Amino acid sequence: MVQTNERWGSRVGLILAMAGNAVGLGNFLRFPAQAVQNGGGAFIIPYLVSFLLMGIPLLWIEWAVGRHGGQFGHHSAPGMMERIGRGRAWKYVGVFGIFTNLAVAAYYAYIESWTLGYVWYSLTGAFAGQSAEQVSHFFSAYLNIGSGHFLNISGPAILFFLITISINIYILSRGLAKGVEIASKIGMPLLLVFGAFLAIRALTLNAGEAGAVNNALDGLNFLWQPQFDSLTNPKVWLAAAGQIFFTLSVGMGTIQCYAAYLREKDDIALNAATAGWMNEFVEVILGGSIIIPIAVAYLGLPWIQANVGFEMGFRTMPTLFQNWGPFLAAAAGVAWFGLLFFAGITSSLAMGQPVMAFLQDEFNLSRKRSALTLGGILLMLSAPCLLLYEMGAFGEYDYWAGTFSLVAFALLESIAFAWVFGIDKGWEEINRGADIKVPHFFKFVIKYVTPLFLLAVFVGSLLKPEAGNWAAAFGSLFSGGGWPFAADSVIGTVLNVGIAEKRWFIDGMPTQIFILNMTRLLLLSTFIIIGVAVYAAWRRKGAKA
Ligand code: TRP
Repeated sequence: MVQTNERWGSRVGLILAMAGNAVGLGNFLRFPAQAVQNGGGAFIIPYLVSFLLMGIPLLWIEWAVGRHGGQFGHHSAPGMMERIGRGRAWKYVGVFGIFTNLAVAAYYAYIESWTLGYVWYSLTGAFAGQSAEQVSHFFSAYLNIGSGHFLNISGPAILFFLITISINIYILSRGLAKGVEIASKIGMPLLLVFGAFLAIRALTLNAGEAGAVNNALDGLNFLWQPQFDSLTNPKVWLAAAGQIFFTLSVGMGTIQCYAAYLREKDDIALNAATAGWMNEFVEVILGGSIIIPIAVAYLGLPWIQANVGFEMGFRTMPTLFQNWGPFLAAAAGVAWFGLLFFAGITSSLAMGQPVMAFLQDEFNLSRKRSALTLGGILLMLSAPCLLLYEMGAFGEYDYWAGTFSLVAFALLESIAFAWVFGIDKGWEEINRGADIKVPHFFKFVIKYVTPLFLLAVFVGSLLKPEAGNWAAAFGSLFSGGGWPFAADSVIGTVLNVGIAEKRWFIDGMPTQIFILNMTRLLLLSTFIIIGVAVYAAWRRKGAKA
């Protein structure tokens, strides 16, 4: 076997790459939307508790799993899971660690490409003088949605998408230290500068100034006023835990992959904590201080509560910037979309690396070939999600790969680590070469609390009842009315709850339910194909040994 001898160039580079992996579109687009939809201050406490009891422990677990696997020449999840799980079947659990990255990258890179497009449009002043409706319509036209066409595609959207994929593939083909690490060293500082500029501008907006009708600080108040009664609301807990997963990039196989390029005695305890806290800083401080306060200042809280969503960053923000005069509007547009682009690319690179590593380690492909193969797969896998955006293909990718798989993988991984590999060995692994003393309390947390927490999140997302109302659901169950699955619970999704039209074709045209089912089939096939690839790779290696 050709052993990759790739390593991180420096500790700063490693931390910036890990932070870049975590800091992504999730911090600036998903976090504000989740926080607003779940009641602002009601969201923050479950969010922070999930970070401490689930996020931080998972970071340590994943860094440890990765560094351990790396010592045996494995830089992607299948080989690592086989080591940690001490059994051949566990490598198939590792399939999640390839699948999630591929399927998420397929839709994530699309959003990333919008940000690149929007940097261009901001620079060229495309939004100058446009009304709010025009800016929003611009976005719909860019994606070709809302026009009644079946396929959603526009020339510029394809162009920026191809550019985005090419940049990613080029950087990945340069290797870890010369590609990913350099990109993170440039992207992360720029992101912080852009973010600071926008946050300062946002927080100093007062009613009556530059067209603002409210104070921006009202937005912050809404976000930070703790509401303790949310602690008993499972719906908010599920949303908070889901956000912690997505934002920290845990349960995906990316952290493990990056950590596999460490040496046996390199610190992981402090590095993991540093990268994790950096992500939280960027999320709650910067992510919380841009889109919500600015939109509250101009449009008011009720408007946001009714309209928030990840499209808001594109549909609404460019108009609001227009209030600041032509120069500042262009600068703010470049800063906002540039920030999103850097946040996005350092994350999509992280999604690409495990796939690269899998092809290099297990199939002996060269770096260039792995990168090109990855590019090809991404183009194929992203096609349905681009073309059928409005039909819901995009949302299915996000649901199955970006939400469900993370929890499933993390649950199995935490059991493998604490119970099969064993907590004593696991604890030793986390602390070897550590530059901080991890509080002993976390040994207990990793063994019992985190797996139980994950189990609760997993079962909760399978069974989530209508309107998140568990009391009513039990009432219905015991009175013989059956369990009312929410449309976005896992079982409800599979059963297509909430979609009235069950026919697959009407007048020869495919219906939404047909597209959704086909998208699921495609994702499932992708998972199985990766499983077969793992099987084939191991047979090959077995034959050689
Ligand atoms: N954490 C990133 C964000 O907040 C998303 C992300 C990074 C990710 N790496 C990933 C998602 C790997 C899935 C798989 O936007």
